[in-house]
Parts: sequence; C-alpha cells; structure tokens
Amino acid sequence: MRISDEAQKKLEEVAEVETRFTVEFLSSKEELLKVIDLFDGVIIAASEPFDREVINAGKRLKVISRVGVGYDNVDVKAAVERGIYVTVTPVNAETVADTAFGLIFAVARKIPQAHLFVKDGEWSSGKPVVSFMGFDVFGKTMGIIGLGRIGSVMAKRARGFDMPVLYYDMVRNKRLEKDLGIKFVSLEDLLLKADIVTIHVPLNEKTRGMIGEEQLKTMKRTAILINTARGPIVDEATLCKALKEGWIAGAGLDVFAHEPVNAGNPLLTLENTVYLPHLGSATFECRKRMYMMGVENTIRVLGGEKPLHYVTS
Ligand code: 8YV
Repeated sequence: MRISDEAQKKLEEVAEVETRFTVEFLSSKEELLKVIDLFDGVIIAASEPFDREVINAGKRLKVISRVGVGYDNVDVKAAVERGIYVTVTPVNAETVADTAFGLIFAVARKIPQAHLFVKDGEWSSGKPVVSFMGFDVFGKTMGIIGLGRIGSVMAKRARGFDMPVLYYDMVRNKRLEKDLGIKFVSLEDLLLKADIVTIHVPLNEKTRGMIGEEQLKTMKRTAILINTARGPIVDEATLCKALKEGWIAGAGLDVFAHEPVNAGNPLLTLENTVYLPHLGSATFECRKRMYMMGVENTIRVLGGEKPLHYVTS
C-alpha cells in the first residue's frame, strides 16, 4: 500500500523500502506469491490476501504490518506458527465512529439525495422538497453490535444525541456498561428494539453472515443498519432484498462483500441506502496516526523489539 511520505522517510532510515507494489497488484494472490520472498516486512491495507500459502512463501518475513485494525485478510495462525508478527494500528476508533455517525445522518435525513437535488437545479425548477423528509436521530435507540474500541466511541457519541444505547457483544463488559451508561442485551433484543443498528465487530468465522434473513426480519421496519466494519458480516444479497421490500427503512454502508463494488451490483440501485468506498478511517489526521504506527511497528520488529500492537489469534 502507499503510505505518507513522512512515514516512508522514517522507514527509509532503517530499511530499504520497495513501493512499486500497489494494493491493486498485491490484492492478486498470484502476483503476491511472485514477490513475497523478497521481503523481511510488509506494510499492508485491508485486501491483500495473506493466507497460509502466501505467508509460507514469505521465507524472510518477520512482520506483517496492517495499517488498520481489521486483520481478516491475514491468516494469523499461520503467521504465529512461523514466528511472524501481525501488527495493527488501533488509532482509528474516533474517526471510524465519526464516519458511522455521518452515515446515520446521511440516511436519516437523505442528505446525499437532497444535495443532488439542489446541485442538479431541480429545486429552482419548482419541484417540492417534501420527498426529502427524514426522521429525527436524537433520542432514538442505538443498538451497537460489538463493544470494542469503535463500538465504545459510538456509545460515547450517542449520549450527546440523547440516545439510549443497547449493545450486544460475545463478552459482556460490565465496567464499560456502567461508565458509558448503556445496557447489555441479546442480539435478538437489540435487533427488536434499536432504531439504529450499527456494526462494530471484526470479521471472523463467528461473525461472517451474522446479519442475515432472520436478523433483518427481526429489525423494526423503521430501523436503519449501518456497517463500517466488514461487508461479509452482513449477507449482502439478503440485505438488498430487505431494503427493496421494506423489511428495514434504510442502510449506510462503508464496506461491501467485494471491494471495490462492481458497477452492476443490484445493491447500488437502492433509494434508501447511502454508500461510501471504505472511508471509515480516511481523514488526514487518522491516516497519519495509522501510517506512523504501521511503520513504527515494522521498525521495532526488524530491530528485534516487540511491536506496539500485535495480534496472536
Ligand atoms: C483502513 C480499516 O482504511 O482499520 C481497518 O481495519 O478497515 C480501515 O481503517 C483499512 O484498513 C485500509 O488500510
């Protein structure tokens, strides 16, 4: 992946840096296999497929440095078996939560649609604006799936909008519950009661397809679903059906089953959905934090030290 000039300079002080390989190139497993044995360390984004075969082909690899927090594209077990560190940069929670709130408002208040209406001159042509009537966000019940770093920030933000917060996670966190003034419920209860359901779990074998037909049918018909986590957590074809047939009122999606989304994907034809091209952490400040930490993790491992943040399962 491309990192900032500042981060690259820092890395160049200790290592020879190869930047010929773009995410697009490295997202092809065949291409990745051809070059992986050249490197002691790699700095990667969210889509390069570091499966067991690729990891084992990286004979010199000591560190796989993810610039981000999701590591579903890396076979961590295979890396750990070979003594390779898989590092992450948990410095994007506030920014991703801002993105999720942006999507909530965009969907609830039809902001993208209304923007185009003004921009395209339709307002001045006298068309009524009544079709852009939305619904209030403040005071609505928020359901947070996954109370990790990002989920916790969502809860903190929600308090400012006077929203009661329900959360579901595989592990209950009573201390955080108390600190944030939020309530632990089952996934079913959360889906039954929340007006805004927002997903903040990592993608793994337990969460893949976690939101499917049963879950979407359990949600209120007036509720909206926000996904800034990973596309495959939601069964995309069923979500499309749910949005078309009005099982739920709308969705805000920053992530998709396959990225970039194909132009012909039927999901893109929906009126009640707002889409972003995986921009959760895309602010100058956040990316700077992520690049610098991704490089710091790499430098530490190459220098024989422990990285700042790494995962083992
Ligand atoms: C990044 C993300 O944009 O942290 C993550 O896992 O999905 C995003 O913050 C992505 O990882 C690109 O590096």
